[in-house]
Amino acid sequence: MFKKLKILDEKDKRLRLISKEVKFPLSDEEKNTIKLAMDNLRYSQIDELAKKYNLRAGWGLSAIQIGIQKRWFIIVDEQEDGSFRELFFANPKIISNSAEKIYVEQGEGCLSVNRDVAGIIPRYARVTIEAYDIDGNKFTMRLREDLSICVQHEMDHLQGILFFDRIDPKNPYKDSNKYRAI
Ligand code: NI
Repeated sequence: MFKKLKILDEKDKRLRLISKEVKFPLSDEEKNTIKLAMDNLRYSQIDELAKKYNLRAGWGLSAIQIGIQKRWFIIVDEQEDGSFRELFFANPKIISNSAEKIYVEQGEGCLSVNRDVAGIIPRYARVTIEAYDIDGNKFTMRLREDLSICVQHEMDHLQGILFFDRIDPKNPYKDSNKYRAI
C-alpha cells in the first residue's frame, strides 16, 4: 500500500548530520522503508499520481531526507519505454571520476529545498561508484551526465551538505564558462 513519506525541509537540522554506515543484513522494516521511498519517487514522476498525492517530482532521495541517519540513497530513473529503473546505493564511494566537469544549466533541485536557488555547481561528468545493494552485495557502477550529477548530489546529503552550500551567493554563475552545461 502506498504511503506518502514526510521529507525534511532544508531548515531541519537533521539534514546537516553526517549519516552512518549501513549494516547488513537490512531488517524487514528497513527494506520496507526503502520500497516506500522508491514508490514515492516513482509516483512523483507520474503526473496523475503526483497530483493525487501532492508529490513534488524528484529523481533521487537520501535516507536522511526522511529522517534516517544512514548512508543510503535511491534514484528512480524513467526509461525511454516509460518503465522505471530503481537504483539503491548503500555506503557509496566514488572510486574514480572524469577530469571533465559539467553542471545543470537551470540549476539543481532538491526535494528538501522548496524554492528556486540561482546558481550552478560543477560536478564530475562521469563517476565510477562502489556501493552495496539491498542484499549487501558490493557492486560498481559507472554513471555519466545527469545520473553522475544526481549521485554526487545525493552523496553530499550523506555528509550533511545541501546543494546550495556549493554556490557562491556573491557570484552564483562563477566559472560557468569553464565547464559544460547540460
Ligand atoms: Ni537533494
